[in-house]
Amino acid sequence: MYLGLDIGTSAVKAVLVDDTQSVIATSETTLAISRPQPGFSEQNPADWWQATLASIDALKAQNPTALAAVRGIGLSGQMHGAVLLDAAGTVLRPAILWNDGRSFAECRELEERFPALHQVAGNLAFPGFTAPKLLWVRKHEPDIFARTAKVLLPKAYVGYCLTGEMVDEMSDASGTLWLDVGARDWSDEALAATYLTREHMPRLVEGSAAAGRIKPELAARWGMTTPPVLAGGAGDNAAGAIGLGAIRAGDAFVSLGTSGVLWATTDRYAPNPESSVHAFCHAIPATWHQMGVILSAASALGWWSQTANVAPGDLLAPLGDAPSKPSRATFLPYLSGERTPHNDTAIRASFIGLDHDTTREDLTQAVLEGVAFAFRDCLDALGAAGTSLTQADVIGGGSRSRFWTAVLASVLGIPINRIEDGERGGAFGAARLARMAATGEAPADICLPPRRIETIEPVPALQQAYADRHGLYRALYPALKGVTS
Ligand code: XUL
Repeated sequence: MYLGLDIGTSAVKAVLVDDTQSVIATSETTLAISRPQPGFSEQNPADWWQATLASIDALKAQNPTALAAVRGIGLSGQMHGAVLLDAAGTVLRPAILWNDGRSFAECRELEERFPALHQVAGNLAFPGFTAPKLLWVRKHEPDIFARTAKVLLPKAYVGYCLTGEMVDEMSDASGTLWLDVGARDWSDEALAATYLTREHMPRLVEGSAAAGRIKPELAARWGMTTPPVLAGGAGDNAAGAIGLGAIRAGDAFVSLGTSGVLWATTDRYAPNPESSVHAFCHAIPATWHQMGVILSAASALGWWSQTANVAPGDLLAPLGDAPSKPSRATFLPYLSGERTPHNDTAIRASFIGLDHDTTREDLTQAVLEGVAFAFRDCLDALGAAGTSLTQADVIGGGSRSRFWTAVLASVLGIPINRIEDGERGGAFGAARLARMAATGEAPADICLPPRRIETIEPVPALQQAYADRHGLYRALYPALKGVTS
């Protein structure tokens, strides 16, 4: 029996997986975000820990025998957040999260202080990433910076609470800008550029390797006679990839979650920072991945649903199963700025091309297509980094919509697979990593693909119409940038 935990932004999720890889119990505890100033986004690490305890206690209430039989625990988590701890291991301030934009100026400073950053860390300096956040703290909260002895990512903080040890793994560490992503080790130069050393970092392991053992008192609380092994785990996207079996070069998926991700597994380190592609380690040895990240995906539909005051299901129903032509309107989904390909925190969303005949259905379709065009930009950015995709799975809340998946297939020009349990998420992948860490089984034996329920092919006539519309979409960003940011 294995336990997967996903320390997300909106909730902590826990899943119990048995030896046949069947999910036998799940639980979820919601989390709140605090936005003390516009563009700021913080959470209290103690809330993650309380939510983790509540989620595991809930599994105990559902199935105490299964929980007691857990041999391995794996963690998946929201990436990039900075948890600052003093020498006694006490949290110094609320964690600054992945979707916090305050450290834009510090990104430029970091790139100037360490010109080789792009090649070593495989990425541009994005305000969402960890290193620029530390430059911000040094500038604005010097007392806290001076007392900072360790910097942990969100899931590593929960791992510390579970085991008493400060350990993290390669996939999440890749999102800090302190990792030499090709060498799979901390970069002393990148750390020095933020006035830190490797003493400030946790020990590194591979995601599928053991990071420690659960504290005996916690094991006793959950009825476990032998304290389970804790695996290194994975950042949420890498954990999702493990859950999908995306471990071979060319395996790809589109995640329609709060943010959106176009993921491609690679067998080598292949950065292309110029177009804001992320080049990160995977959570298994000698494997990497490229990723285009858009900041508003299913959250764009959520925003439109709230604004129109109509439930998402009721907005989607009139659209049917697949589009016959592009919407009359165009939507740019930059509700909270954009990462790939623009790296622009200031740009904002727009509807374009409305007239007196524009309907609510046109606008709903435009929102879905705008997100798909943003993914098309990611596909082109991955192409410029040498990766061409031949198919992709779709996961996340948005994957429930067949219409949206059909739009994606024709906009991206590749077949898109809808899969069973497309919303399973990172916790399931984390449970697989727990099993590999506990048993030493090989990734290829454990990371099997899910059952595909449908493959939606691109429709040639629509593909052409969408290619034309994507041309307009591409022209709108520079025009808007001139007037909104
Ligand atoms: C990846 C990213 C998001 C967060 C969301 O770079 O920022 O996927 O990890 O949880």
